[in-house]
Amino acid sequence: MKSSPRLRVAWTPTQVADLATEDLSHSLCVAIDVLRATSTLTTALAHGASAIIPAAELEEARSLRAAHPAALLCGERHGLPPEGFDLGNSPREFTRGRVAGRTIIHTTTNGTRAVRACAGAAETLLGCFLNLSAVADRIRSRAADVGCVVLACAGTFEDFSMEDALFAGALVAHLGWQHPIRSLWSSRIGTLENALARTRNGRRLKELGLAEDVAFCARIDSTPTLGSVDRNGWIVG
Ligand code: MLT
Repeated sequence: MKSSPRLRVAWTPTQVADLATEDLSHSLCVAIDVLRATSTLTTALAHGASAIIPAAELEEARSLRAAHPAALLCGERHGLPPEGFDLGNSPREFTRGRVAGRTIIHTTTNGTRAVRACAGAAETLLGCFLNLSAVADRIRSRAADVGCVVLACAGTFEDFSMEDALFAGALVAHLGWQHPIRSLWSSRIGTLENALARTRNGRRLKELGLAEDVAFCARIDSTPTLGSVDRNGWIVG
């Protein structure tokens, strides 16, 4: 019987950024930004968005929009939509009516950086609680042909984010693999929504009047949609 691939967790934005300098050609990476980038992009794909172009900086996002005038310009800085953007980074904004069939240019503080840092991987998936089982199923189906699974926790600004680590723990528990991060998940107190609401990002979203986003992002397995990064670095469903 073939053993499970090696499991690595990049816990902080610095460790995630370092992934961009590594040879990931035998790795499957999961970019994780529970509050909210990967939850939002998974929702956009679930509602029929045709592709998402991740842009690191506002300027880059605006010039991509000039090149793709029919695309929606979306994202956040300090949790809110930058000036002139069509949508922010709330998953609740990405309704079928707004995004079906549309290309989305998306820029956020940490989530975008995590997706881009994993670009050289054999495969990069977008993980969040909304698609927990879909991510686990895909990892199981690739376990025999990747050497390493890398869980890239996007974090908040320059810091570790508890909600991303909680998801990493939930994923490892779901896979039935052994890793200390499982205990973060098994020792959480109360509902997932409450656990997310207590995190630094959860509290910040509440202050911004976006507490409903936290409840939305806590809906485990609400979709089988699985975003992945294609050869051009675009995210597709
Ligand atoms: C990020 O990418 O830093 C987050 O998704 C931020 C947010 O949603 O406010």
